[in-house]
Amino acid sequence: MEKTYDVIVIGGGVIGSIIAWRLGQAGADVLLLEKGALGEDGASGAAAGMLGAQFEMEEPGPAYDVAIKSRALYPALADELFEETGISIQLSQRGTLRLAHSEKEVAQLKKRAAWQIALGDRAEWLSSDEVKRREPLLANAYGALDLPDDRNVAAPMVHQALAAAARKRTEVREGTAVYRCDVVDQAVTVTTSAGRFQAKRVVLATGAWTGQIAGLPRVKNEIAPVKGQIFALRPRSAHRLTHTVFASTVYLVPKQDGRIVVGASEEHGAGFNRDVTPEALASLFGALKAVAPDLATASFESAWVGFRPGSADAKPQLGPHPETDRVIYATGHFRNGILLAPITGRWISEYLLGRADVTAFAPFLPR
Ligand code: FAD
Ligand code: GLY
Repeated sequence: MEKTYDVIVIGGGVIGSIIAWRLGQAGADVLLLEKGALGEDGASGAAAGMLGAQFEMEEPGPAYDVAIKSRALYPALADELFEETGISIQLSQRGTLRLAHSEKEVAQLKKRAAWQIALGDRAEWLSSDEVKRREPLLANAYGALDLPDDRNVAAPMVHQALAAAARKRTEVREGTAVYRCDVVDQAVTVTTSAGRFQAKRVVLATGAWTGQIAGLPRVKNEIAPVKGQIFALRPRSAHRLTHTVFASTVYLVPKQDGRIVVGASEEHGAGFNRDVTPEALASLFGALKAVAPDLATASFESAWVGFRPGSADAKPQLGPHPETDRVIYATGHFRNGILLAPITGRWISEYLLGRADVTAFAPFLPR
C-alpha cells in the first residue's frame, strides 16, 4: 500500500462511474475498482433506460422530488458526456404514455395527474381514441396519462459513456473484486483480489452486491438483488411506436436503433441466478400481445437478465454509513438507477468534496 487515495469508489456501474468522474473532474485523487469490466457488468447495461420520474413514483414526497430533479439534469448530462467522450446516450424526444386498463386505474392515474400538475409537472389525461390516434399499434385501453417529460435513454450507452468519462479522470482497476473494507484510524483499507489499497474515504457503489462486502457493521435496510428479465424486438417496418408505453403488466421502450425493449420481470428472492426462463418470457409475451397485438409478429432479437439493487423500503441509500463517515453508501436505486444517476453523482461528490452536508439526501440516509 504505497499511497492513500482521497477516495476509492467500489463498483463501476452508472452510480460508481458518475461519482468517480465527478470527483475526478474536481481534482480528487480517485481509484475506481470494478470486479468485472467497467461499462459492461452489473444492472446498468441491462436497464430499459426509462426516465420514469412521473410514472414510477406513485406518491408525492422526497422520492418523487429527487426523481424530478435528476430527470431535469439529463439533457445537460447528455451534452456533457458527448463532449467528454464522443458517446451519445440517445435521449429520446418523446415521453411516456402510462396506460390504464381498468376503471380503477383510470381513477388512480387521474388522481396522480392532479397532484403532479399541482406540483408544476406536465401530465395530461388522454381518451381511449386519442391514445389510438397517437399510437395506432396499441390495443384499446381505457385511456392513458401522457407524460411528455418521462423520456428514455439507451442505458448501455449511458453506462459506457460514464465509464469512459471516469477512465479519463480517475485511476481504474478492472477485474478487481473487493472482499472487505476495514476502517483503521483516519483511513479505510480495502482488501481485493489484486491486493490491498487505502483511501481517506470509500464509496460503496456496489449495486445488488453491496451486502457481500465484509468488515463493515451491517445496516438494517440491507440491499438484495431483484432479478429482472427483459428482451428486445425488431418490429416490422410498418409497425412504429414513438412513445415509451408503460402498463401495469409490461413496458415497451422504442430505441433510436429501431429496437423495442420490452420488460421486465421483478423477481424477489431469486438471488443472482442468471437464467432467462420460459415462465418469465411467456408472461411478458402475453402482456405484450394484450397491449400491442401486432408486435407479437415482430422479430425477437435477444433476452437478458439484470439484478436491481433492492432495499427493504425500495428507496436508495445515500450517504455515510450509520457508524462511520469514512464509508459512504451510494446504492439501493432499485428500479430507477439510470434515472437517479445524475443527482446521485452530484450529491455524493459534493458531500465528499466538503461542499454539501447530508441535508440534500437526508431522507435516504442508510439505517
Ligand atoms: P450496477 O450497475 O449493478 O453496478 C454495480 C457494479 O459494482 C457492478 O459493475 C459490479 O460488478 C460491481 N461490484 C459489485 N460488487 C463488487 C465488489 N465486491 N468489488 C468490485 N466491484 C463490485 N433504472 C432506470 O432508471 N430506468 C429503467 O428503465 C430501468 N430498467 C431496468 C430494467 C431491468 C431489467 C433492470 C434489472 C434494472 C432496471 N433499472 C432501471 C434499474 C437500474 O438498472 C439500476 O438501478 C442501476 O443500474 C443500478 O446502478 P448501480 O451502479 O448501483 O449498480
Ligand atoms: N424501471 C424498470 C425496471 O426496473 O424494470
